[in-house]
Amino acid sequence: MKFGVMGTGAVGKALASKLATLGHDVMVGTREPDNESARAWIASSGCDLRLGSFADAAAFGQTLISCTAGITSIDVLRSCSNRDLAGKVLIDVSNPLDLSRGLHSPTLTICNDDSLGETIQRQFPELRVVKALNTCNNQVMVDPGRVPGDHDLFIAGNDAAAKEQVCDLLRSFGWRSVLDLGDITAARGTEGLMLIWLRLLARYGNADFNYKIVRAGQEARS
Ligand SMILES: NC(=O)c1ccc[n+]([C@@H]2O[C@H](COP(=O)([O-])OP(=O)(O)OC[C@H]3O[C@@H](n4cnc5c(N)ncnc54)[C@H](OP(=O)(O)O)[C@@H]3O)[C@@H](O)[C@H]2O)c1
Repeated sequence: MKFGVMGTGAVGKALASKLATLGHDVMVGTREPDNESARAWIASSGCDLRLGSFADAAAFGQTLISCTAGITSIDVLRSCSNRDLAGKVLIDVSNPLDLSRGLHSPTLTICNDDSLGETIQRQFPELRVVKALNTCNNQVMVDPGRVPGDHDLFIAGNDAAAKEQVCDLLRSFGWRSVLDLGDITAARGTEGLMLIWLRLLARYGNADFNYKIVRAGQEARS
């Protein structure tokens, strides 16, 4: 499948490399497609990746992944043609984090009765938004086995077929437990988990951890 990965940060790099390794065609979107550091990264990645503007990546991908800084994600999507977004599944990995007061004092620029995932779905109704992968570190996203044992990934979205498609992709990444939390309003909760996640990062000193839901009366999964 052809993917448009919007973002050249740690998440964009990890996801683009993983997708290419799995045999997908990938274009990575960025503000300045000629920027040397992104080109150098692609050259050193060993993967067959294309680099273009955010609009180019949206046009290229059959499925899109939004992994830009959360405060910019809406503007990035606005820079793309509506025609290139129409009907496409968009996996929203971004979080509306404001870290201007430091990693220990994070705030969310959209929260409580709204979320970035919902805002994207509302402002781009032609997209089929699935919130996913935003609750773990980029290395764990593409290699969940870095965290031993069973652990869970949360997804949310309004379109059942889009979520099923994303679940298939996540399984190909190695995810064994994907918990569907329902419609896109569940993104309020999964984006809010970042406030806990950053405290856990400070406590453990590394990012190889994840959430696991344990329920009474459920046998442990193998
Ligand atoms: N890092 C993680 O492990 C992790 C885990 C879960 C979720 N997330 C979320 O995933 C998203 C990406 O995180 P990241 O760590 O990879 O990198 P990031 O630094 O949050 O975002 C990098 C991307 O945002 C774009 N960007 C930054 N400022 C912009 C602006 N003013 N206008 C347009 N685009 C702008 C950059 O564009 P250029 O390409 O032009 O530089 C780049 O593509 C974030 O929302 C983050 O909260 C991150």
